[in-house]
Amino acid sequence: MSGGKFITLGIETSCDDTALALLEGPRDTVYDVISSQIADHSPFGGVVPELASRKHQEAFLPLLGALFEGAGMTPAEVSLIAVTAGPGLMGSLLVGVMAAKALAQAWETPLVGVNHLEGHIFANILAHPRLEPPFLCLIVSGGHTEIVLARGEGKYLLLGATRDDAAGEAYDKAAKALGLGYPGGPVIERMARDGNAAAFDFPVALKDTKDVEFSFSGLKTSLRTTVGKLRESGAAGGVLPVSDICASFQRAVTESLMRKVRLAIKKTGIKRIAVSGGVAANSSLRGALASEGKIKGWDVFIPSLKHCTDNAAMIAAAGYSAFMRGERSDLSLTPDPSWEIWETAG
Ligand code: KG4
Ligand code: ZN
Repeated sequence: MSGGKFITLGIETSCDDTALALLEGPRDTVYDVISSQIADHSPFGGVVPELASRKHQEAFLPLLGALFEGAGMTPAEVSLIAVTAGPGLMGSLLVGVMAAKALAQAWETPLVGVNHLEGHIFANILAHPRLEPPFLCLIVSGGHTEIVLARGEGKYLLLGATRDDAAGEAYDKAAKALGLGYPGGPVIERMARDGNAAAFDFPVALKDTKDVEFSFSGLKTSLRTTVGKLRESGAAGGVLPVSDICASFQRAVTESLMRKVRLAIKKTGIKRIAVSGGVAANSSLRGALASEGKIKGWDVFIPSLKHCTDNAAMIAAAGYSAFMRGERSDLSLTPDPSWEIWETAG
């Protein structure tokens, strides 16, 4: 353990990114590294779990070497190991958790298992030092679409979630239907730039319900049906109006998210709102939050792009907080692919 500095090693392997970071104290990233598997999964149009865990295994040790070399530090300086233990893909989580346990034992370092979604909430705290609870957090990723009330560190109330697909999953499936590759969000966003968002009237499900809830499976089906019909009819000589479809699809996703952000603010009276997860990188959503926030006097926190997608600094920050709250894991730590941390209302 280091003399004065408290250094946390963050380990993230819950999906398709192998990420490691060294964090000093609660929120100063010393160095972070990431190995993306996008090129490996892209031909399949989505993450292939077996491939993901094998790639994590291959990437882990070289990445660990690169982390310490880049930081100019040694393992002896690490005070805590924080590892994502769920939710996520079992085979992927296992690689990180097993590695973390081996390192904790070899280095005689304390260990804490971190919830990936708490990590996404901490991405905002890392990115915005002035962000203090209570705040709302819209978590929008490939596996999650939730609005959470962060009442304090470690105290999260789930206000509502998706009933079916996550927003990022909807982007990925839409891109697949259009033959645009994986991950879908960035490519749809790019194509949407030159498109007309009013060209197709894609549905916004559950838009007027009184609950904070989302549904994206109908939107996905509607896009597939539209694409199928256009292909069949041979419209425009068989060339799909991809930009218009992407822009209209993106508009529908953003509208769905924004409607429930408004509702969550109305229900809680809390106007401090943060956003995280891969879909938080989307310029349509970022623009909508920023502009509506300005008009309505919300305090909007939008992280930099690197804090939106999976990274290990956010896991280290959440792990540091959990450790300081007294949480500890030992060598019996096992991943929980559907780990929930939410408090219940009431
Ligand atoms: O948080 P993340 O990196 O990994 C998960 O925990 O899922 O999120 C990945 C998801 C993918 O579904 C991807 O298509 C989506 O985030 N995404 C985007 C954008 N960048 C990534 N969606 C919309 N617009 C983007 N610019
Ligand atoms: Zn994530």
